[in-house]
Amino acid sequence: MAKEIRSFKHLLGKLDGISDPQLEAHFGLYEGYVKKLNEIEEKLEKTDKGLTNYSFGEFSELKRRHCVPYNGTYLHEMYFENLISTESPSPQFENLAKAAFGSVDNWKADVKATGLAVPGWVVTCVETTTGKLKNVQIMEHHIGFPLNHVPVLVMDTWEHAFFLDFKANRGAYIDVFFKNINWSVVNARVTQCAK
Ligand SMILES: [Fe+2]
Repeated sequence: MAKEIRSFKHLLGKLDGISDPQLEAHFGLYEGYVKKLNEIEEKLEKTDKGLTNYSFGEFSELKRRHCVPYNGTYLHEMYFENLISTESPSPQFENLAKAAFGSVDNWKADVKATGLAVPGWVVTCVETTTGKLKNVQIMEHHIGFPLNHVPVLVMDTWEHAFFLDFKANRGAYIDVFFKNINWSVVNARVTQCAK
């Protein structure tokens, strides 16, 4: 069954420092990933598996790129979900941040440093093997994401996420992102991880 495009129009006019034109352009990019995910999955069902080949083959190329629109779709959905400022970090999140980074401020500094260096994504995760909070850097949508990490906070650091509002100032965008975190969503994801 084809993946449906979700609407995040409830964010319009509700973010502090991220404009509606910036958001609307971003929604369009997200929709493109959903369409391309559906296109690849449909082609994979029809493509001759006998033509797969390490150097080049239609089936193998579709498989190789599948993770790009797949993660591009779901990372964007998690990003839009964790926007609109609400509440504050739960005691559970604060304890995880303190255990891993010493303080919530140190966790934020690590997110920013991680984000300044990546045209891609910064994802705060709970590592399932240790229960530890980690900030992971993802290049493109799929490169560098380690096993055993469950995302709880997703920040888009592709230029398309901020260029209309901040030009090339990725750091200013990251500072504004922190002001717009939907902590009720993030806290619930953390609770889910702890189960
Ligand atoms: Fe994006």
